[in-house]
Amino acid sequence: MLVVTTSTPDGDFGATVNAFTALTLEPPQVLVCLARTSRTRAAIEEARVFAVNVLAADQVAVARLFATAEPDKFSRLPVPVRRGATGVPVLDGALCTLECRLTDAIAKDTHIVLIAGVIRMRHDPMKTPAVFFRSRLYEGFGAAAGPEEGDWAAAAFLSAQGS
Ligand SMILES: Cc1cc2nc3c(=O)[nH]c(=O)nc-3n(C[C@H](O)[C@H](O)[C@H](O)COP(=O)(O)O)c2cc1C
Repeated sequence: MLVVTTSTPDGDFGATVNAFTALTLEPPQVLVCLARTSRTRAAIEEARVFAVNVLAADQVAVARLFATAEPDKFSRLPVPVRRGATGVPVLDGALCTLECRLTDAIAKDTHIVLIAGVIRMRHDPMKTPAVFFRSRLYEGFGAAAGPEEGDWAAAAFLSAQGS
């Protein structure tokens, strides 16, 4: 799970996101899709910089908090916040953090596709990710996968191969 964060003179903003992907490696670029109605989306277009915080397995509560419409999510945050090189809020304890500079904002129906260059990246190789699967948040892969899930995935794969 991811939380995108940014900062404007009106304060800090952040939203839980799963519509994220790497775009190109050279140059390093990513994209995030945010609803037009998202306050974080408006703040990112104003600030032109943001952070992508890839949440660690023990940060499911953070994903829940940033998925709400609370006016000041940062005051209820259970983890410390640091400032990145561009002044954006960076969540402590994340698996990985990318600091990004917005280059393009492309409107597509209800959402805006935000394309950004990656300025810097920090990664903690000892951590594993919080996972969103079948409409539920999980503290890592282990809690989600049981034998039934494994069988289902294998069956779908074999069926796609024509077996
Ligand atoms: C698991 C999960 C994934 C989400 N992914 C996205 C997403 O990719 N894009 C988006 O616009 N909203 C997404 N949301 C919804 C936002 O987090 C939610 O609308 C939030 O209240 C936006 O906050 P804001 O208005 O303060 O920016 C997701 C929510 C959850 C629980």
